Amino acid sequence: MLEEIEEEIRHCRKCPLWKGRTHAVPGEGNESAQLMIVGEAPGKREDEMGRPFVGKAGQLLREVLERNSLRREEIYITNVVKCRPPNNRNPSSDEIKKCIPYLHRQMDTIAPCIIVTLGNVATSSLLPLFGFIPEKISIIHGTIFESALHRVTIVPTFHPAACIYNPALKQDFIRDFERVGAMLRSTRGGRKI
Ligand code: URA
Ligand code: SF4
Repeated sequence: MLEEIEEEIRHCRKCPLWKGRTHAVPGEGNESAQLMIVGEAPGKREDEMGRPFVGKAGQLLREVLERNSLRREEIYITNVVKCRPPNNRNPSSDEIKKCIPYLHRQMDTIAPCIIVTLGNVATSSLLPLFGFIPEKISIIHGTIFESALHRVTIVPTFHPAACIYNPALKQDFIRDFERVGAMLRSTRGGRKI
């Protein structure tokens, strides 16, 4: 059950990031979501609220979801690492290794048909799990990686924080999500991919 995993995360001390957290951020959304969105790690606002993507990057994400008529309630949103790294540094490979089993369990429970990875950290952590070789996000964003074996499609795109920092990326970010929206509309009402 999703709630049990979320509760475990709230009490987790498997890596040193628990020491600096105000709240762990397990993720939130629908247990039977068709779309799962995976970011990197909570930022300041997320750590304060215990909720994913509630800060500035979250605002841009919300905008792009709304544009494609995707409601946050029909999606599950989480991160590779569930506690905020100090000063928003990238999570270390050891922290990712310790935390990623939670993401595996969330993916198994939700069984989404599409997973969107936001940015390099999420993309390089997830693609290999499904047998794909990651490349830099600027090269592979918008690519559709279909795993017949795992019955899931992965679509990497830019991290919304990167689009805020570099607005030239925003058009591609929007286009990648339009693609995801179209894919979801074509599977809705039917059985999962
Ligand atoms: N950036 C992320 O990667 N995740 C969040 O939840 C917020 C900002
Ligand atoms: Fe546990 Fe993950 Fe938080 Fe580390 S980041 S303490 S592994 S929940």
